[in-house]
Amino acid sequence: MRAQIDELSALIRYHERKYYIENQPEVSDADFDALMRQLEELERANPELISPDSPTQRVGGRTQVGSRIAHRIPMLSLDNGYDEKQVQEFAARIQRLLGGAAIEYVTELKIDGLGVSLLYENGILVRGLTRGDGEFGEDVTDNLRTIRSIPLRLAAPLEQTTDRRASTVPIGIDAIPPVLEVRGEVFIPKHRLDKINAQRKANGEVPFANPRNAAAGSLRLLDAAMAASRPLDIFVYTLNYAEELEFATHIEALEKIKRFGFKCNPHTECHSSLEDVLAYYQRWVAKREALSYDVDGIVVKVNTIAQQNQLGATAKSPRWAISYKFPAHQAITTVERIGVQVGRTGVLTPVAILKPVTLAGATIMNATLHNEQEIRAKDVRIGDTVVLERAGDVIPKIADVLTEKRTGKEVVFQFPERCPTCDTPVQRSEREVAVRCVNAACSAQLKRRISHFASREGLQIEGLGPVTITQLVDTELIHDVADLYALKADAVSQLERMGEKSASKLVRQIARSKETPAVKVLVGLGISHVGESSAELLLEHFSSIDALSKAAIEDIEAVPGIGPHTADSVFTFFAQNGPLLQKLKEAGLTCFNVVVQGPRASAHASSAVTEDNFFSGKTFVVTGSLEGMTRTAASAEIKARGGKVTSSVTSKTDYLVAGESPGSKYEKARELDVPILTAEAFFEKLSATVDL
Ligand code: IVH
Repeated sequence: MRAQIDELSALIRYHERKYYIENQPEVSDADFDALMRQLEELERANPELISPDSPTQRVGGRTQVGSRIAHRIPMLSLDNGYDEKQVQEFAARIQRLLGGAAIEYVTELKIDGLGVSLLYENGILVRGLTRGDGEFGEDVTDNLRTIRSIPLRLAAPLEQTTDRRASTVPIGIDAIPPVLEVRGEVFIPKHRLDKINAQRKANGEVPFANPRNAAAGSLRLLDAAMAASRPLDIFVYTLNYAEELEFATHIEALEKIKRFGFKCNPHTECHSSLEDVLAYYQRWVAKREALSYDVDGIVVKVNTIAQQNQLGATAKSPRWAISYKFPAHQAITTVERIGVQVGRTGVLTPVAILKPVTLAGATIMNATLHNEQEIRAKDVRIGDTVVLERAGDVIPKIADVLTEKRTGKEVVFQFPERCPTCDTPVQRSEREVAVRCVNAACSAQLKRRISHFASREGLQIEGLGPVTITQLVDTELIHDVADLYALKADAVSQLERMGEKSASKLVRQIARSKETPAVKVLVGLGISHVGESSAELLLEHFSSIDALSKAAIEDIEAVPGIGPHTADSVFTFFAQNGPLLQKLKEAGLTCFNVVVQGPRASAHASSAVTEDNFFSGKTFVVTGSLEGMTRTAASAEIKARGGKVTSSVTSKTDYLVAGESPGSKYEKARELDVPILTAEAFFEKLSATVDL
């Protein structure tokens, strides 16, 4: 039976590659589906024979999206050039550094998507990370697995496989390396964006501004089945690391990548002169709209690997490559009206409502005007003809007003003196350009606060979009974020466009969000100036939201990296929101009850440690953020139990205690095979060595 399953899997893999990667299907969709069904049936009857890289296992259900993991090799970015001169300077620089040796250039399209790395161990896809900040990426393995053009298992080269049903056991020079990492760009074809957005609007979600954001949003979904329904695709552009393999040129490496079954962009070229490189650029400036995916420039790379190594990299980017950006996309449209949005902190933001226009694949209906001063500076009037521009991944903006098109009927916008939602008089301050609604009970602010609470930065409650939030607030089902936790599926299902199924799904998502780590909850509260990095600093210091909420303003200000404005807004927020915090605690958000448990109270622990315990005589390193406990406190707990704590991981380290975002120590521990204790396991061990 195993042989039959293996053979069928290999055949399906072959056809997947023909269809999704080479665009040369050999069988009809119906025949392909029949093969899949046959495999599914065999696997259903023999579940013990299902292997994780089986073609049926692309969608794994709930995913692990969210954990930050260090890249084996940092993912650098590229230097940008915006005109010919800058590219000429790049060429002159490398000529000089290479002592005048002949240089071969490779030109590639710069795909405007999301950079990812894919790690294969013994030919099997084991991990996929987003680029993140270059050093740490987000684990999106489960969603990447749903992309049909990503092989779950590296292929043996087709041209060497005489029998196409042969299993993918490697042969000869194409032996599969034990470890291989490639990098590429995940994208969504631009013509698919409008359909995705139509669906998002129907679900009450905010539409994506461009295909890139759609790709990023899809890759980070928590539900792999949802991700599978998005038309994600990939072009792999670099073989980053391959144990036991070496190449003379980048082109050779790309050829190898293709033989392993990866999809590479077909428009890559090799040139021996800079003139040819510039001609390639011009050709694609003219042709880029005709591509089915967004590109924002070309990438010029030195082909010879030895020269690449000689040139090396700065901390930020390699010296052997440059991206030559295309000019921004532009479109002309008219301003139909100017609306005003109220943000979560009460700031009033003017928005130009435009005659819908297509710009780089997306239908654009509005553009932010930022603030009152900006409208005045640009002199944007209602009825004006404007040039809309989208550069790179930013949201579209009004780049220019075509005053020559004015007819005299244009109307100068009057900034409102009262909040458009609650009618409270607005407040202007000397210190900032922002105009604010200062009514904390303003329903527009509340809606935005809830939206922020439920967003990716916060508690990531999927399915809680603006339309649902508006209804929940307007029907008075909720008055603050804590009320979300009291929602019953029955009540939610009464809302417009909300069936019973989606209502109970939403309630489940809300319940799941109770497990959100403290940092994200703190960000989700929406305190001015508190983003992820300040939240991390604050919790590192105060160990819990509870402790932070009781801190004096001087103590908050004393935290390294926290400025007086942030300290002030944190202090003021907690001074005003005691009851809200209490409600969240009562709702059962787990980050509120971590600290109060026995083993983490130092005094308690040290007095009651059992003699010969797990910790005694062993050496530990503590890294990452341990929910509800500072690293200093964790070290104290270990020492109190007779353990030793050091700062760097060596072969003498017995255990690495790794909390969230563990960093390079984690990689080091893996390299040296040092056992790793998760925060949970660590807390368990602590409890086990206390006589409670
Ligand atoms: S090579 C060492 N090639 O552009 C950097 N990058 O700022 C190697 N990108 O995040 C990058 N198309 O995700 C390279 N053909 C291409 C690319 C490409 C898109 C993205 C990449 C990276 C960003 C560079």
